[in-house]
Amino acid sequence: MHILVTAGPTREALDPVRFLSNRSSGKMGFAIAAAAVGRGHTVTLVSGPVALTPPDGVSYVPVESAQDMFVAVKAQVPDCDVLIMAAAVADWRPTQVSEQKLKKSSMDGMLSLERTPDILASVQALKGSRVYVGFAAETQSVEAEARRKLNDKGLDLIVANDVSRDDAGFGVDTNVATLIARNGEAESLPLMSKADLAEAILDRIEALRRS
Ligand code: C5P
Repeated sequence: MHILVTAGPTREALDPVRFLSNRSSGKMGFAIAAAAVGRGHTVTLVSGPVALTPPDGVSYVPVESAQDMFVAVKAQVPDCDVLIMAAAVADWRPTQVSEQKLKKSSMDGMLSLERTPDILASVQALKGSRVYVGFAAETQSVEAEARRKLNDKGLDLIVANDVSRDDAGFGVDTNVATLIARNGEAESLPLMSKADLAEAILDRIEALRRS
């Protein structure tokens, strides 16, 4: 299969030196890309800025902003069988990007923000028989929020994780996740390495492709 994976945060520029972003390290998306290559799949990895080396064998597309990631994903979806959106896409960006570094004296302490494109929602029309997988990083009502996103974003599978735990989510090498399928079936997985969780996610995707 051709698997398109997104990873990492996005950066939303305010001026040439400042940006809004989040704590995503890219480790989960990179682990999925590495596991998929290991299984013999063709992998394209679209990633925001991270301090990781792309796994051998992936086609790597580095991007910076949510808009860049949207353009890259839209261009790649037609060629893929599976889209796994592991990226922590910034939800908001500054309304205006200054070409010059903003002066402290010219700022009034207020930031004007606008929504970034919802990448998964924007590629719904291209879905066809493709398998779409999303992530839900939550700090409360984890499963309920994940089920809502699964439905709202028209996904086949969502990986829900509680990022309020120290041993799960952003930055660390381990994760605790519940895999929820479109038919409502949920599988709660124990604490495991992101490499092992990547294998569990791919097992589910391969089963969905066979069914
Ligand atoms: O709504 P929320 O951001 O929590 O949804 C998370 C899922 O949606 C992730 O799979 C993420 O990659 C994706 N997403 C997206 N475009 C956005 C924000 C999130 O595709 N602008």
